[in-house]
Amino acid sequence: MSQSIRGILVLLVLAGLGSLGRVGKCAEHRVNYDYFKYHTMAEITGWMEQLEKEHQGVVTIVPYGQTYENRSITLLKISVGSEKKKAIWMDCGIHSREWISPAFCQYFVKQILDTYQTDEKMKQMLSNMDFYITPVLNMDGYVYTWQNITNRLWRKSRSPGNCGDSCMGTDLNRNFDANWGTVGVSRNCCSEVYNGAKELSETEAQAVTSFVLGKRNEIMCFLTIHSYGQLILLPYGHPNVSAPNIDELMSVGVAAAEAIKNVHGMSYTVGTSPNVLYPNSGSSRDWARLIGIPYTFTFELRDKGEHGFKLPEDQIQPTCEEAYEGARSIITYVHDKTFNIPNAASTLIATIWMVLLTLCLTSAPLL
Ligand SMILES: *[C@@H]1O[C@H](CO)[C@@H](O)[C@H](O)[C@H]1NC(C)=O
Ligand SMILES: *[C@@H]1O[C@H](CO)[C@@H](O)[C@H](O)[C@H]1NC(C)=O
Ligand SMILES: *[C@@H]1O[C@H](CO)[C@@H](O)[C@H](O)[C@H]1NC(C)=O
Ligand SMILES: [Zn+2]
Repeated sequence: MSQSIRGILVLLVLAGLGSLGRVGKCAEHRVNYDYFKYHTMAEITGWMEQLEKEHQGVVTIVPYGQTYENRSITLLKISVGSEKKKAIWMDCGIHSREWISPAFCQYFVKQILDTYQTDEKMKQMLSNMDFYITPVLNMDGYVYTWQNITNRLWRKSRSPGNCGDSCMGTDLNRNFDANWGTVGVSRNCCSEVYNGAKELSETEAQAVTSFVLGKRNEIMCFLTIHSYGQLILLPYGHPNVSAPNIDELMSVGVAAAEAIKNVHGMSYTVGTSPNVLYPNSGSSRDWARLIGIPYTFTFELRDKGEHGFKLPEDQIQPTCEEAYEGARSIITYVHDKTFNIPNAASTLIATIWMVLLTLCLTSAPLL
């Protein structure tokens, strides 16, 4: 073999080894995470840490409170660029047995990260808005539901109420400072809708309150994810109070339900809690609307009761896919309205006018 051919072969082998090395590195860096399985709290925490490492400068873990059992409540901030922006809030897992909810928050994060560099609309939205996403708010409850099968349907926090130690837990979604203690709650600690010793008695509700209050002028949209029932709920839970922009909320909600239906044909019902579910008070959605966040919605994901809170894992993917389109529809509306961007329909009409005008101008000399 001539010297030069041997040289070329050596170079080829080296190049081959080099690219193998790169492939190896890539594989190391890729999250090997199954989004269509339910995950333990430890797995979700590990996933958050992994994302922060892989998307440095874009994903940040932000601790913003403590649970009763002293877990650190954290959210993922997704932010491109450093200037101050408007923001979207999403929380999952305020009710611990609703396992599809944390699964959805994780899928939502993945979709944003997978698309913001290639999807023009997502890129534009990320240039104007940050996302604050809490995958599991009621961490103590969530850990408890995983502990053994008898605890699977635990809903509340894990703090002792004020009726002795026979019954633990407060319904965190009845504990916010929004018409607290008026309707749809119980003063009995053993109840599933026990609203706590007083408003904001629970550290988890305090954490959301102080974080969101600190960003009340940035957060335009507050989405809180539950299951089940296939509903998009609007403020307020109190039947005698109406949100000033209820008509707009209704039409944004209906558009989201249509976007959901287009994915797998599932029907979601839109309305205020008292109209389509039941009256309640002290919910985070109502509180967020009361402090002036204009667009606040509760999603109740699949199903309609066949499996209820124990939605089988083979439904995680379709549920996430459709709910993603619903959330994206709302966020797009909020973004376009906030930043005065004409929506697709009016852009089309404007384009048609431009074409007609151009035709007229160019054909004018012929007349
Ligand atoms: C949480 O931490 C505080 C301070 O260290 C401690 O006093 C308290 O007992 C802890 N609570 C639980 C439930 O472990
Ligand atoms: C499950 O957890 C409950 C509550 O902590 C406990 O009372 C029960 O003994 C546990 N069951 C098993 C099988 O570990
Ligand atoms: C709503 O108003 C009606 C009529 O005034 C009253 O009867 C009802 O008790 C009110 N509901 C609540 C939950 O306050
Ligand atoms: Zn719920």
